[in-house]
Amino acid sequence: MSHAASPVFTPLAIRTMTLPNRIVLPAMVTRLSGEDGVVNDDIRRRYVRFARGGAGMLVLEAMAVHQSKSGPLLRIGADEFKPGLTELARRCHDAGPGRVVPQIIHFLKISRAGWRQTVDMLSPDDLDGIVEAYGQAALRARECGFDGVELHMAHAYTLSSFLSRLNPRRDAYGGTLENRLRLPVRVLERVRQTVGWDFPVGVRFLGEECIRGGYTIVDSVPIAVRLARAGVDYVSLSAGGKFEDARPAPGEPLYPYTGYSGDRCMPGSNYPDGANLYMPEAVRAGLRAHGLSTPVIAAGKVGSLDLAERILERGLGDLIGMARALLADPDLPRKWQAGREDAVVRCVYGNVCKALDEAFRRVDCTLWPKKLGQAPESDDAVPPAWPAAGAGLTAEYREGRVLLRWTAATDNEAVYGYQIVRAEGDGILVHHSSARAGSARFEDPRVLGGQTYRYALRPYDLAGNRGPLSATVAVAVPDEHVSPDWDVRVARDPGALEACTAATS
Ligand SMILES: Cc1cc2nc3c(=O)[nH]c(=O)nc-3n(C[C@H](O)[C@H](O)[C@H](O)COP(=O)(O)O)c2cc1C
Ligand code: SF4
Repeated sequence: MSHAASPVFTPLAIRTMTLPNRIVLPAMVTRLSGEDGVVNDDIRRRYVRFARGGAGMLVLEAMAVHQSKSGPLLRIGADEFKPGLTELARRCHDAGPGRVVPQIIHFLKISRAGWRQTVDMLSPDDLDGIVEAYGQAALRARECGFDGVELHMAHAYTLSSFLSRLNPRRDAYGGTLENRLRLPVRVLERVRQTVGWDFPVGVRFLGEECIRGGYTIVDSVPIAVRLARAGVDYVSLSAGGKFEDARPAPGEPLYPYTGYSGDRCMPGSNYPDGANLYMPEAVRAGLRAHGLSTPVIAAGKVGSLDLAERILERGLGDLIGMARALLADPDLPRKWQAGREDAVVRCVYGNVCKALDEAFRRVDCTLWPKKLGQAPESDDAVPPAWPAAGAGLTAEYREGRVLLRWTAATDNEAVYGYQIVRAEGDGILVHHSSARAGSARFEDPRVLGGQTYRYALRPYDLAGNRGPLSATVAVAVPDEHVSPDWDVRVARDPGALEACTAATS
């Protein structure tokens, strides 16, 4: 059944651009460019692949508005970068229906020895230079044929550090909320002067800084209101990603996603789905309460159609940001729209991509076939199959984990992975994790003593076609611990003593 009627596939107009659906690829650094910052073949291939998948808007990874040295990072800080960016915009437009918007960034200096420039070190001339660099970069984005531009005011970078509650400046650019907003608003006003009012300008900033003493939705709501009144066309909310709680690594520049705030920025498998949704919900409600209809992009571990629809139906956001889910399977939008959610290769949120970014290595998804450097593409319709004797799935409990083993499936092209489904007791089987094709074993460390679990597997191929569900195996996890409320239960009901002893022995 097609999901074309889903709210996810309702177009949305943002100033002069219309997004064909509500799925947004938020900016995601790929480390595919060289230190020269010029668009190369790898960058083109990566974004054309995303475009073909059908997302409503692609936000191209952060590109520098200034000339400051950095590791591999795209650049838009001089006219010499325009030919490559123009070609990239054209190729993405040719490849898919989505609108294409670059994220533009200014960052401060940082050294391997641990020194980092902070906003209180910037002179009035430096501030003027930042404003002008953003204005000129936004104009270049327009001249290159992009559909809009997104100003990066999130994470550990310059404009976010001005917005921060920990901004140490004691002049008109620090202290009160209006002062902290002064530079971001100046940037926005300058961008409007250069690109005009017929070009969409979005902003990405933090719903919460997620550091001690940092700002929360108490501040992000008025920040959004102020930016929307100053002419922003959409707000995209992120979380955390700060230097303040980053873990230093000897000889390496500080990476702002290594602390707790980094976990909150890219919530891993130990976080619930939609972990940060209360932020866009609050910001959107605040904007609407002020009569502002500015669309809000909600992101943070949103990977299923069901959750995406709930976000739109309950007003937690107007657009769905999906970074890692689209890295794992760029064809997710097309598959959802065709009613083929069961063919999506699901991100397992293990954050290998994040670790690659941290190491300045090319950001690939760990699920992709090795050496392909890209999500696989296939129109094949033949699903994988188990051997005649079946999957041979076994489950055993060992030292706090359930260990699954099975026999490899086969496919006319290639088996890509296995979807592992699990049920507690007699409950229904739901997706639990995925394993790469190369392995025929999986360890589940998230099990409780005294509980029975049932497991089954489905192989999937490069196109995401799912093979048949294997036979289900059950494993009873022994209750090795005395129940923490044992004493309480005994005290309340002395007659229960015998039963409790039997249950825990
Ligand atoms: C490898 C990687 C690079 C990222 N680079 C950027 C970036 O350049 N700009 C940005 O605003 N966010 C960046 N992010 C954050 C994502 O846009 C997104 O907010 C975050 O991953 C949470 O969304 P998700 O759960 O859908 O992945 C990056 C995330 C990852 C995993
Ligand atoms: S590397 Fe892991 S977290 Fe990143 S996109 Fe792939 S499956 Fe998701």
